[in-house]
Amino acid sequence: MTNKTYYVTTPLYYPSGNLTIGHTYCTVAADAIARYKRIQGYDVKFLTGTDEHGQKIQEKAIENGVKPKEYVDKIVADSKKLWKTMNISYDIYYRTTDRKHEEIVQKIFTELYEKGDIYKSEYEGFYCTHCESFWRESQLEDGNCSDCKRKVKISREEAYFFKLSKYQDKLLNLLEDNEEFLQPKSRVNEMVNNFLKPGLEDLCVSRTTVDWGIKVPFDNKHTIYVWFDAVCNYIAALGYKTNVDSDYKKYWPADVHLVGKEIVRFHTIIWPAILMALGEKPPKKVFGHGWILCDNDKMSKSKGNVVYPEPIIDLYGVDVLKYFLLREFSFGNDGSFTSEKFFNRINSDLANDLGNLVSRTITMIDKYNGGIMPQPKEEGEHDKSLKDMAVSISSKIDKCMDKLDFSNALEEIWTLIRRTNKYIDETSPWIVAKDDSNKPQLDTILYNLSEALRIISIAIRPFMEETSDCIFRQLGINHGQGTEWKDISQWGKLNTGQSVKKEKPMFPRLEIKKEIERFNKVHEDFVAKRQGKICSNNKNHETENFITIDDFDKIDLRVAEVINAESHPNADKLLVLKLQTGKEQRQVVSGIAKYYNPQDLIGKKLILIANLKPIKLRGVESHGMVLAADKGKKLTLASVLEDIPSGAKVK
Ligand code: MSP
Repeated sequence: MTNKTYYVTTPLYYPSGNLTIGHTYCTVAADAIARYKRIQGYDVKFLTGTDEHGQKIQEKAIENGVKPKEYVDKIVADSKKLWKTMNISYDIYYRTTDRKHEEIVQKIFTELYEKGDIYKSEYEGFYCTHCESFWRESQLEDGNCSDCKRKVKISREEAYFFKLSKYQDKLLNLLEDNEEFLQPKSRVNEMVNNFLKPGLEDLCVSRTTVDWGIKVPFDNKHTIYVWFDAVCNYIAALGYKTNVDSDYKKYWPADVHLVGKEIVRFHTIIWPAILMALGEKPPKKVFGHGWILCDNDKMSKSKGNVVYPEPIIDLYGVDVLKYFLLREFSFGNDGSFTSEKFFNRINSDLANDLGNLVSRTITMIDKYNGGIMPQPKEEGEHDKSLKDMAVSISSKIDKCMDKLDFSNALEEIWTLIRRTNKYIDETSPWIVAKDDSNKPQLDTILYNLSEALRIISIAIRPFMEETSDCIFRQLGINHGQGTEWKDISQWGKLNTGQSVKKEKPMFPRLEIKKEIERFNKVHEDFVAKRQGKICSNNKNHETENFITIDDFDKIDLRVAEVINAESHPNADKLLVLKLQTGKEQRQVVSGIAKYYNPQDLIGKKLILIANLKPIKLRGVESHGMVLAADKGKKLTLASVLEDIPSGAKVK
């Protein structure tokens, strides 16, 4: 270990739904950098986690009928499980609902208030709940959020503001004069032209209408704006403003924040301005990567085109997904996931190129040398060019990785893999083997192939550790025997005399048409199962969960007639229903706005849980709950078959 440090971060994901291959993209990239730096001797800190506050999470929890913390805990558990399956080597999994985080954010907020960089005023403007972002009218697109194109809400409230405008010039310098700060370069123009040049306005950093979040410590009715809360994670995770801040001193400023393109402005304008106000250094680099689309369209649950990583991993393995994500797409640009592209990559790069090279090499050592790694004897005409290319691979990878160009780093490695396969064709060992007197030449060929594979296996290690382990195993190499990064540029480090061990093909060739059908089926089943799980609120309906008739008797179910229905004033997903149950009238808030037009409900007879404890949903009282059946994207309200007066008991 050297004293060089490297701090790499992913964004903190919203636990508002399960992670898609789009989310895994950034984490897989961050993991590759972290591993790459670690094997080079850097003292690495790799941070990821979840951003758990805000209106969006609050609404999701209501939709699912649970408390926000309960809701996020379940998704956080799923996310951690996924990262474990994917062998993601993070050092810190950070949650913004941790008490420690809340305290640090409150300290930061108070300090900026006391310095005069945060002040109290009134907010009037547009708010996008989906992106948790504020917009000026001029920034809207056709009246919608310019990031996600969804409807924005007019928001008017007393609020605290951060003096973002004060940092306008400093931010402009940071973005324009420091080439390293924001990459790819095209994103600099976007920030400068769209946000800085038109002039920055102060940023509203508190809400009174959102409850789920960190409170302004000196004014409890205000909740700190979720983005202010979230970006602080990058330093809070290192113990900033605590008495254990040695990691902060050691690792800050971050070497790189990896973020998706739509959140670059939070990381290159708002975040550095907060750091400037605190008198701290900005991160060294922010990289705004592109999006993974699905068939050229943005992935979204409502469009039903989301691709989840779990079925891919179950069917083809973690390394295949990692390889595909990093090789297929250029990190700075958008790219589209299609199953054809995915299976073509498996067949061409993994099965044909790498898998074949490993299997041919081991098979030939088995066949021509009894499964024992031979000693090289004499150099042949093609050996030098193979050696030269192999020992220079690390400098080529370095050049690409310095630019976070994963795709070309892998392409360089695959050029070597293809070159090594070509070496087999050039040297034709099966012909050489026909004459016993050629044994020295044959031994050299087999050794050179194995040695190239040893180097390839080191090179792919940051990206595909399982595959690298598998190659070492087959070559009979133990860890530490020429397997480290320092051994990558040295030819001849491979031991001889050990037994090789053939394993089953690493990447079997796939019949693409059939495989697409199989994959789609497995993916659909997975989605259906997952939706079932979430809708049922993760309670299992196995027989051991029987209730007694006495339990059921506690629930007062009634037929209720809808006499009025209207949209909720503060929540798109909710409707406010006026129900008649016998002589009594009552108000019920229900999460059915996506499925029903309020007018269509009037006169309908529904089933009501009448003795449910009343609650307020986004400021509106709800006395009971109407029953509905839902599956996947369908929802239908429960009713009675024949007409019966409202108030009738359901039993
Ligand atoms: N919580 C904020 C980040 C706060 S960081 C202090 C957030 N969360 S998110 O879950 O909506 O998105 C997290 C990251 O996932 C973003 O960088 C986003 O770009 C990325 N991706 C989500 N879907 C994606 C694709 N389909 N493709 C690539 N990355 C995308 O924003």
